[in-house]
Amino acid sequence: MTLYLAIFSTIITLIVLLVFLNFYFKYYAEKYFYKIHKDLSNLRHINELEHELLDMEHMKNVPHHICETAVNKWSYTMAWIGLIDPYSKRIKPIAFAGQLDDKIKKTIQKDIEKKIGPTSYCVKEKTCVTLSSYKRYCKKSQQKKFIPPEELLNNYLYNSFIILPLIVNKEVIGILSIYTEQEEKQLLIELEKLEAFANLASIAVNNLKKLKEEHKSFQEMVKVLSTIIDARDEYTAFHSANVAKYAVGIAKHLELTKDEINEIEMCGLLHDIGKINVADKILNKQGPLDFTERKLMQTHSTVGAMILNQAKSIFNKKIIDGIKYHHERYDGSGYPQGLRGESIPLYAQILAVADSYDAMTTDRSYRKALPKERAVAELKRNKGKQFSPQIVDAFLQFQNKENQESINGVKGICAI
Ligand SMILES: [Fe+2]
Repeated sequence: MTLYLAIFSTIITLIVLLVFLNFYFKYYAEKYFYKIHKDLSNLRHINELEHELLDMEHMKNVPHHICETAVNKWSYTMAWIGLIDPYSKRIKPIAFAGQLDDKIKKTIQKDIEKKIGPTSYCVKEKTCVTLSSYKRYCKKSQQKKFIPPEELLNNYLYNSFIILPLIVNKEVIGILSIYTEQEEKQLLIELEKLEAFANLASIAVNNLKKLKEEHKSFQEMVKVLSTIIDARDEYTAFHSANVAKYAVGIAKHLELTKDEINEIEMCGLLHDIGKINVADKILNKQGPLDFTERKLMQTHSTVGAMILNQAKSIFNKKIIDGIKYHHERYDGSGYPQGLRGESIPLYAQILAVADSYDAMTTDRSYRKALPKERAVAELKRNKGKQFSPQIVDAFLQFQNKENQESINGVKGICAI
């Protein structure tokens, strides 16, 4: 009897043990499987962003996509990326996603502007900062000017935050800041993933920084070139810069894209580059040009396009065509090809208005500058003849905005 009892209790114990082990392994297997799945998913998100980094066209959007991934795919409440301005050394936010509480927004602005919060601490110490480490830092440095740690969170939206430095060649070039409802302990468990993410953000921000620097150098070179062009004609100092300014004003009123506005500015600055081929005695001739001189002068738009065509990787077809056709007229009476109406490329239509307006309102070798009101009247009178009506309207809106008004009338509005 005792033997049966012992066997029975052993079997029961074994069954209980097996059931327990089954649940135990199932629980950990599921947990482990979930972790693997999450890690793979994180890797996939990082991999997608890495691919975008290799693609020049999408490269500019990577900081935004990083913030969106943090919020939409990894469920953090808010993420933003800042780039350190090389001159002011201040952090400039360049990408953001998620919910931004007004109080936190003000605190972040104060932190950035006065350099008295965790973001500045992160940049200064080149280390990732959480609420706990910031508290220790404030206590240790004993400076009252720091933003109080309790001001940094709003319990309804965020329970913790982490700010990671974006480091390239041992220099901090920006920061990645993440706010979440999770407790700090949980956030720190994900530190490895966040650091990989910050590395990716470093590459993205550095690429963007390089791109901006290259663009700035290129713009400066174009400005130098345009000053050289204008310097040849004693009457047209600042002409190209003025045309660029008016053309950009028109482009903005037409709601063109940022890239198109940049291209239009380039067109304005270089539209007369072909005058390099015109002799000084013709360029600076007092009084009207004779037939041959006029024909020679008129080659400048085609010559300009030929010059820029040598650098097709920098100047696209829209820019080159804008310069080539900037003396075409809406009614087909212009040159070099006598294009008519909407067959004239948009950039050329814009340049025609901007160029003529500046030509009318500045002194020339063959006449004095006209009052702005008379130039505006002349643009209106030539709507649909010399100029595109839509472009003249956009220019007038731009002018109204600039508070330049009043009208008269005059002939000879063509800038050569
Ligand atoms: Fe011209």
